Amino acid sequence: GKNGPLAGKKLVISAGGTREPVDPVRYLGNRSSGKMGYALAEEAVRRGASVRLVSGAVDKPAPFGVDIKYTETAMEMFISLREAVKGADALIMTAAVADYRPEKPAADKIKKGDGELDLHLVANPDILASLQGDFVKVGFAAESRDLMINAVKKMADKNLDIIAANDISQPDSTFGSDTTRLTLFFKNGRIEEMPLMSKQEAAVRLLDELSALL
Ligand code: C5P
Repeated sequence: GKNGPLAGKKLVISAGGTREPVDPVRYLGNRSSGKMGYALAEEAVRRGASVRLVSGAVDKPAPFGVDIKYTETAMEMFISLREAVKGADALIMTAAVADYRPEKPAADKIKKGDGELDLHLVANPDILASLQGDFVKVGFAAESRDLMINAVKKMADKNLDIIAANDISQPDSTFGSDTTRLTLFFKNGRIEEMPLMSKQEAAVRLLDELSALL
């Protein structure tokens, strides 16, 4: 509640996947469930934080006590987060952001043609790398190989304080699962390898670590 250990702290959390329109009825999306980000938002509220949740398309009710903003595309998520981080103490970016979007979504529903269709994609901005400021930055990384090398490189590229890396080659620790196996890498070089646990328990552990930096 309001008197918890994070009272007075403003946390911004992104969750879920983005959707990039192809035409009025189709999109490019991903399998992100939003479970990790929503669990973090719930746990942060429990600790008294004021929480702004910027959510992609997620099949879940809004967590109690959270100020939620729904977004669809990566660009919409970027615009919402750019506003939200003003005056924030921390940004935790769990959303699975599309790296590419169709350059020009078709105005009308695309009709069947003669067997092939080319879709031209352009790069989306890296939201986490772009957002800089006086707040603690936490990123997530889903890796199917070279977990440590990739995570440490992302931490540097995006100027993160913590990166939570997930080995998604394991079915119990992948997109949509209720459990996760995270390794936390800290800016100072510390590494915390956590066993398989529920995403709620992972949220508790991650917020314990984040609180120490606030
Ligand atoms: O580079 P990669 O996509 O693996 O990095 C993952 C981290 O970066 C996640 O925290 C994700 O939310 C964030 N990200 C982002 N904008 C992108 C791509 C990823 O903020 N365009």
